[in-house]
Amino acid sequence: MHDVVDLDWSSVDKGRAQMREAGACELPGFLRPEALAIFVEDARRVAPLGHSSGGLGTVYLGFPDETFAADHPRQWLGNYGVGAVAYDLFPDDSPIRRLFEWEELRAFVAAILGLESVYPYADPLGALNLAVMGDGDELQWHFDQTDFVVSLALQDAEEGGDFEVAPFVRNADDERYDDVARVLAGDREPLTVLPMTPGTLLVFAGRHSLHRVSPIHGATPRLVALFGYDTQPGTMSSELLKAVRYGRVA
Ligand SMILES: [Fe+2]
Repeated sequence: MHDVVDLDWSSVDKGRAQMREAGACELPGFLRPEALAIFVEDARRVAPLGHSSGGLGTVYLGFPDETFAADHPRQWLGNYGVGAVAYDLFPDDSPIRRLFEWEELRAFVAAILGLESVYPYADPLGALNLAVMGDGDELQWHFDQTDFVVSLALQDAEEGGDFEVAPFVRNADDERYDDVARVLAGDREPLTVLPMTPGTLLVFAGRHSLHRVSPIHGATPRLVALFGYDTQPGTMSSELLKAVRYGRVA
């Protein structure tokens, strides 16, 4: 795989420092320029198999909590719309799939996270996804329920589709609802905007950083491969999540 990716072990220390400071490590040019076209072609081949879902989502990814006031972040709702191609729809010879299953990439991601190892999700649908976002799609402000996400940017939309982050808005001891509310109300001062640059590998810790994907416009879909790794072996997505995201559970 070294012929398709620029996996540079000497960048691990810098990546770890970025994780500590910003909760994100961006590796532009991770996919070599000559390999990018092959990966994009692979993504375009499976993209039509994606299941689309959309509606209203919350910041905390559950139902709105009506024990809080109507204007509280716990009751905020935002639009989302996204398509997802499940792992089992990637052919065996798919370069995206082969990169996801490559052991050295997993070791590299673990090193950036300062972990001994990370494991692929055991979920036959959720382990690897292609996120397909077209005209009008977006992802509402939210915190992740997983410790980290690894994504590979493949194709940019004509307009929008930026990854916007308010780093470390909350922590394990303090929800900091006032700061969350500020971002929801449109204050952009706390934001870091990570433009979508094809070929970039992103390791992102989203449990404490509020983030969204800005609304997309134009005919070209935004294509991002999502690699499902976890600190524990055997991780599965819930049946509910599978039903919503893929329109099926197996
Ligand atoms: Fe997220």
